[in-house]
Amino acid sequence: MSAPNKSFDPVPVAALQPDAIAAAVEQALAEIAAAGSLDDLKAVRITHAGEKSSLALANREIGALPPQAKAEAGQLVGRARADVKKALEARQAALEDERDAKALSEERVDVSLPWERDPLGARHPLSTISDHIVDVFVAMGYEVAEGPEIETEWHNFDALNLAPDHPARTMQDTFFVEAPDAGLVLRTHTSPVQIRSMLDREVPIYVVCPGRVFRTDELDATHTPVFHQIEGLAVDVGITMADLKGTLDHFAIAMFGPDAKTRLRPSYFPFTEPSAELDLWFPQAKGGPRWIEWGGCGMVNPRVLAACGIDPDRYSGFAFGMGLERTLMFRHGITDMRDMVEGDVRFTAAFGSEL
Ligand code: DAH
Repeated sequence: MSAPNKSFDPVPVAALQPDAIAAAVEQALAEIAAAGSLDDLKAVRITHAGEKSSLALANREIGALPPQAKAEAGQLVGRARADVKKALEARQAALEDERDAKALSEERVDVSLPWERDPLGARHPLSTISDHIVDVFVAMGYEVAEGPEIETEWHNFDALNLAPDHPARTMQDTFFVEAPDAGLVLRTHTSPVQIRSMLDREVPIYVVCPGRVFRTDELDATHTPVFHQIEGLAVDVGITMADLKGTLDHFAIAMFGPDAKTRLRPSYFPFTEPSAELDLWFPQAKGGPRWIEWGGCGMVNPRVLAACGIDPDRYSGFAFGMGLERTLMFRHGITDMRDMVEGDVRFTAAFGSEL
């Protein structure tokens, strides 16, 4: 038996022909150059440098060559594969650079842009001014009293000396609450909280009563059916109109600075006797300081004290009340009531969180 003839290659291997190898390399380089993305290049790599590529096939064929042909073929295929590998690496690097540059420009973050966040709302200036007024009185030893917005006619009118046939009762355009004979109204002023305070508390009484009130007005630049008042009440031994005047002057100065003062003009309210219109000397008025109608006040009518079980021969009191919208309007030059009602955050935000 003869030994195997190692130099015998029964099949001429086409894959190992220099032409075929050159063509494979050329094809590979063309596709590598044409690969437009890293994914494309991955596919090209599998085709031309993968285990089943023609160059890998050629490489495997080398083993079957006669020894003298091995070295030559090895060099040929080795160089071809090295060329393809180099081209793949260069294209890979170029495509990665492209991808990174694109990501950098597309995902650029401008750190100087305003911070993206949900805009916060703003406190309504009516709440702020109400708190501010309350603070002025709390600092003088007053307490805050509140009452219901749906009020009995008795608290809203009768106890305040507005009998059913009293002409002043029609001065306030009232929302009545069903049923008609229930005797309930949407309170037309904060004065019923005076009544509730006198019924609930022991004398001496010093309270401020901020709150929402209602009248049957159409909404326009100068009217709103829902608005706010703040009421003050002091009941003690020996309270006089001088106490009222001094308290109001202090209030005016606390709100409008040291040049502010108040003036009382004789008037009529059923629940006070005597009664006065309260004017404010408003130093910051546009066009120079001037008097502005601010509210009503007076000495608590003895009939009102009596209705609340307080002996008018022993005790006396003063009361005052004013509109918060009106105060806010002249204090801040607001000309249209609707701005305060509509709840547009652009209006409220302009006041910030402080006044
Ligand atoms: N309640 C009155 C109104 O709504 C305002 C008022 C006037 C309140 C005189 C008072 C006062 O406490 O003494 O028009």
